[in-house]
Amino acid sequence: MRLDKFLCECTGMNRKDAKSEIKNNHVLVNGVCITDSGYTILPNQDSVSCNGKELQYREFIFYVLNKPAGYVCSENESEGKTVISLLPAEYQKRLNPVGRLDKETTGLLIFTNDGNTSHRLLSPKNHVDKTYLVTCEKAVTDDDIKRLESGVSLGDDEFSLPAAVEKTDKSNRILMTIHEGRFHQVKRMMQATCNKVTGLKRISFGSLSLDDLALKEGEGRTLSDEEVNRYFKSS
Ligand code: URA
Repeated sequence: MRLDKFLCECTGMNRKDAKSEIKNNHVLVNGVCITDSGYTILPNQDSVSCNGKELQYREFIFYVLNKPAGYVCSENESEGKTVISLLPAEYQKRLNPVGRLDKETTGLLIFTNDGNTSHRLLSPKNHVDKTYLVTCEKAVTDDDIKRLESGVSLGDDEFSLPAAVEKTDKSNRILMTIHEGRFHQVKRMMQATCNKVTGLKRISFGSLSLDDLALKEGEGRTLSDEEVNRYFKSS
């Protein structure tokens, strides 16, 4: 990999700044100052430092965020504050969200640059479970739960797969696990029971749960290689 690209990927700086750091004798490769931006390095073997700080390269990054309300899962800033803006600078250009949450939905959002794993987690044929804490305008009745558990019409000849529903201590709040991820799916499922979602929080995605991660709203972190293997590679 080119040295300037390596610097950009590890630090989030742009190519122009990376070239300038290299040209100004701030970058060492295996202890030797290199001033050629096009110098080729082996990311997992060579030791590279910039301004005395050792840089660590990871090809695939997984970042988990407890999404706050008010952020859109889009790169387009004209749609409002983006979830990308909540990532550390070095990841903002590298990572994409795995699926989307609506602007007002909170909870677990995963970002990665591992396209294959992202695709596997999202592919409808893999039926990866997603659990939401759903707060509704009205109480959710036993009859509504039976309907959600059998699958409901989403309109336009679309039907949801059966969901798993658990009651909570509040009659207008349920835990619902769905095995697919259609556009506004939870809202449309509740609409099919003549109810309206007033609060939505994703609490787990596959075997990864917000409880295990212990992230407060707005907080995020990268997953270790061991966590990535445990949560995403073993199933
Ligand atoms: N279902 C929805 O309706 N909205 C979300 O953000 C996620 C699932």
